[in-house]
Amino acid sequence: MQEKIDQYTAEINAFSPANADELEVFRIKFLGTKGLIKDLFEEFKAVGPEEKRVFGKVLNQFKQMAEAKYAELKDGLDSGLKAQDLSLDLTLPGDGFEVGSRHPLSLVRNEIIDIFKRLGFVVAEGPEIEDDWHNFSALNFPQEHPARDMQDTFFIRKGDGSDDIALRTHTSSVQVRMMENGKPPFRAIMPGRVYRNEAISARAHCFFHQVEGLYVDENVSFSDLKQTLFHFVQELYGEGTKVRFRPSYFPFTEPSAEMDISCTICKGDGCNMCKYTGWVEILGCGMVDPNVLENCGIDSKKYTGFAFGMGIERITNLKYVIRDLRLFSENDVRFLKQFQTDII
Ligand code: DAH
Repeated sequence: MQEKIDQYTAEINAFSPANADELEVFRIKFLGTKGLIKDLFEEFKAVGPEEKRVFGKVLNQFKQMAEAKYAELKDGLDSGLKAQDLSLDLTLPGDGFEVGSRHPLSLVRNEIIDIFKRLGFVVAEGPEIEDDWHNFSALNFPQEHPARDMQDTFFIRKGDGSDDIALRTHTSSVQVRMMENGKPPFRAIMPGRVYRNEAISARAHCFFHQVEGLYVDENVSFSDLKQTLFHFVQELYGEGTKVRFRPSYFPFTEPSAEMDISCTICKGDGCNMCKYTGWVEILGCGMVDPNVLENCGIDSKKYTGFAFGMGIERITNLKYVIRDLRLFSENDVRFLKQFQTDII
């Protein structure tokens, strides 16, 4: 028995596994339930009482030695594996991963917001499902007035048959909500989605996005409107972009105008984006009609204001030369990826 113990001890001391599999073979051989140490304990049962005293101790020490060796080798292998992980070539390129990007309309909306924020405008929002008052009546569109036909509206018929609820046709409705719920001065821009009952084509869509602007205070004049919008255009499209105002009509402004800018594509020389005129229209604007101020509970003798409204799609088309409105809502990643930015 002593011979065997000496032999096994030598074997155990000399053992050095190359991997976890070899260590497992070692464990089964010596420490397993049918292993050599178990056999020794079986043999031990048969020896005489005199030898038992001597070998009991020796055998137990041998078993502890074998277990300690196993534990030590296992630890060594585990940390060796970790060391191996760390020895990976860290200069290898990592697996690429796709970073999302902002939608071009969001990029342009954010840019518009930034420019107006720098001028002291706050951002306000309102509901997309509107009532007749906020979308039309308060904005000086009388019932049955033909101006209501300027915007093809999706009406929502309620259970009782009435249909004074609609998807808002413009963000001008948010002006009304703002003025009804506060006191002048107001200086806000109001971005949001609007809906019109139009057949979908490259040039028209049943929903699109607008940014409305409103500035109401004492002594606000048309020259404030012009300077504000002129500054906006220089910031958005670059210094030197020209602007011109053409008289127009909107029920909620008096006087009303449409603003054109020199074509951003051909710089005014003429191209098919500007239909060879050198100018492109980007927004409607005007002085808030006193009727609108009064409808919202604001003293039109004391306060004046200007308002403007622009389509974000139009502004984006001119910035990125996009010619088909449908691209904005088709979610084709080949289109969207072209606007990848660092700003996530
Ligand atoms: N609401 C108009 C539209 O959707 C745009 C507009 C024109 C807004 C003139 C205004 C404005 O605030 O003053 O066509």
